[in-house]
This record gives sequence, C-alpha cells and structure tokens, in this order.
Amino acid sequence: MRGIILAGGSGTRLRPLTSVHSKQLLPVYDKPMIYYPLSVLMQAGIREILIISTPEHLDVYRSLLGDGRRLGVSIAYAVQDAPKGLPEALVIGREFIGDQKVCLILGDNIFYGHRLPDMLREEAGRLSGCTLFGYQVSDPERYGVASVDDEGRIVSLEEKPAEPRSNLAVTGLYMYDNEALDRAAQLEPSARGELEITDLNLTFVREGRARLVNLGRGSAWFDTGTHDSLLEASMFVQVLEKRQGIRISCLEEIAYRMGFVGKEQLALLGKELSESSSYGRYVLDLAGA
Ligand code: DAU
Repeated sequence: MRGIILAGGSGTRLRPLTSVHSKQLLPVYDKPMIYYPLSVLMQAGIREILIISTPEHLDVYRSLLGDGRRLGVSIAYAVQDAPKGLPEALVIGREFIGDQKVCLILGDNIFYGHRLPDMLREEAGRLSGCTLFGYQVSDPERYGVASVDDEGRIVSLEEKPAEPRSNLAVTGLYMYDNEALDRAAQLEPSARGELEITDLNLTFVREGRARLVNLGRGSAWFDTGTHDSLLEASMFVQVLEKRQGIRISCLEEIAYRMGFVGKEQLALLGKELSESSSYGRYVLDLAGA
C-alpha cells in the first residue's frame, strides 16, 4: 500500500498564521503538524509516501523531510497547482500509486490511539472498495457524516449536512482500492467548484463497498482547521507528553520501533536534532547515546 499526505490548500481560516507559512508546517506543540499524519502512515507500515503541497511551499517540505532515507522510508513530492479538492490527490499521485492500494491522509489531521497502528494494518489487509475512519464528535455538521449498519457498512454519507443523521464524523484518513484512481479522475466539481472526497466515497457506498471503522472513545482525533482546534491539539500533546515522559508522533522513535532504522542511525538523528533540544535529547536517550 502506498501513502499520500495532502498538505496544500490556502489556509484561509488560519490567517495571518498562514499568510506566508504552509498550514501543515505550523507547530503542534513540539513538532511541525505534518509529523502527525506522517507518523500514522509509518505506524501502518507504509514506507512509500508522496507529499503533495502548493507550488510555493513544496520545497520547504523537501528541506524538512528530504527523501525520507534518514527515517528508513521513501518520500516523493508533487505539486497541486490550486486547491481543486481532496480527490485530486489520487489524480496527481496516479503514477506514484501504480497498481497498488492507497492510504490518503490529510496533512492537518492528528490521530492518537493506543490501538490505531494495529487497526490500520488490519484494515489495510482486508480492504475492498474503500475504508473510512469515523470519530464521534459534538459538532458533526462541520464534517463528512456517515451512518453505518451493524457490520460497519456505510449506509449514508453526507458532506457537512445541516441536519446530521449521526454524530460520526468522517476523519481525513481514507483507504482505497486501486479502482479509486479512475473514479477520482472521472469526478465532476461540486457547486463550490471543487472535487469532493464525499462524492468519490459515495461511488463505493452505492455499491455497498464502503466500510467505516469507528476509532472509538479511547482515541483522539483533531482536525486543526481553526485557531481553537490548533491550540487544543497542542495542549493535548503537551499534557500527554509531560505526564508520561513520552513523545507522540516522534518520527525518529517510530522509525526505530518499526525496524526501519537501527540504533546507530537513531543516535545520528538525535545528534542532528541537537542535544540542546528536549526533543533531540529524547531521541538520543532512546538510542542510549
Ligand atoms: O478533516 C476531515 C474533513 O476533511 C472531512 O470530514 C470532510 O469530509 C472533508 O471534506 C474535509 O473537510 P474540510 O472542510 O476539512 O476540507 P478542507 O477543504 O478544509 O481541506 C482539508 C485539508 O486539505 C486542508 O488542510 C487543506 C487541504 N487541501 C484542501 C483542498 C480542497 C489541499 O491540500 N488541497 C485541496 O485541494
């Protein structure tokens, strides 16, 4: 399975924070936002990853993450000229995906949960059609909203409905069979002029081939679309990290624990980050250096 992180868009809702910066590079407590979705893909065991961003910002991602080799993964880059909609990621990524399945994640979505990596690996293994991940929220009208039958099959799916049929928001994490590529290429823009991910997902819902996995109450999901949710995500990370003395979504640690890099490489990564950074010190400690 290939992974794509979509990290473009105009970030209008977060200006002036995003007047010159790419939204998905803003800090979420101790690391750039994109670390969080990248950590999700890595924990799902996905090692071939494409990052898509705007023409202005793509090079900054390249400077930050390079070709991924340092972390034992491979990272490629592609431009989205204008924010024409989330499914365009599958059109831009067509060559990169080839004949594989794909996991698409939005660069501004943050997931945390003890069972998440296992769950993602299981779902990747049983994928047929599309699999979405739901999370119960108090404000479903801000999101895609799904309702499901007893077997987790999606029976209704609506984008930002005024009167939601459930509290289950569809998060920005999507797994697709290869046929999604042709379907994405054939989509027509919606009334707001964009390709809609919900329209793509509905093609699978109509065939009874769209599954929704509820992340459940033991996990956390934030989309950092507003100033408040950005701060809340930072505070969540700070509280957990301070209380437990661990780091969430530390890419170097994940690369090591997943067996993508060895201890020597981990120590090098820690040195590069510098001992004077508490994050760097954490990585060095893990490496026993
Ligand atoms: O976060 C989950 C939600 O994401 C889902 O519940 C919705 O069904 C889905 O449509 C999407 O809703 P948003 O309102 O959050 O979508 P937005 O247009 O804000 O785009 C999400 C992120 O993707 C944002 O960081 C910008 C980036 N983006 C967006 C578009 C339209 C791109 O990189 N390229 C694009 O063309």
